Amino acid sequence: MDIKVGIITVSDRASKGLYDDLGGPALKTAAEGYGWEVIADCLVADEVREIQRAVLEQIRQGAHLILTTGGTGVATRDVTPEAIREIAVRELPGFGEVMRAESMKITPYAILSRSLAAVVEKGLVLCLPGKPSGAVECLGFVVKAIPHCIEVIQDVPTSC
Ligand code: MTE
Repeated sequence: MDIKVGIITVSDRASKGLYDDLGGPALKTAAEGYGWEVIADCLVADEVREIQRAVLEQIRQGAHLILTTGGTGVATRDVTPEAIREIAVRELPGFGEVMRAESMKITPYAILSRSLAAVVEKGLVLCLPGKPSGAVECLGFVVKAIPHCIEVIQDVPTSC
């Protein structure tokens, strides 16, 4: 199936225009490189309600996969995992486990990321770290499981 993607950059500073959003464009390039269609992208502050609103809006626009970047760490304002868990049908722990395990081979700070995947309505939401290279790396570690996962969530006949 054709995979439609929404991208959400979660960052107080980028949303105030204090610096450019590099994570969103990096993920857009990566997603298009995997042959997916990016149908929406936006920038929100590190606020639970803003994150939730953006995710639900992109799902209603037809996104099968939502990639968020930022807010997975340990700072007080890092609330992306909490925002997604509140609206999730279920969490898929394998994604976070693999992203952290593989990222630990690159940086010891990977242990600080609370990256996760969850099903929200009929969308797969993947919460990636804020650093553009880290977000693209983490997506790469789990990419092979994504099409099958989306087909199962969308009730499209598929085989393992
Ligand atoms: N994972 C990979 N693959 N590469 C990275 O550079 N950066 C780490 C981690 N995961 C990183 C990574 C760092 S420095 C932090 S603080 C956490 O992700 C959380 O990032 P976030 O709060 O910007 O989401």
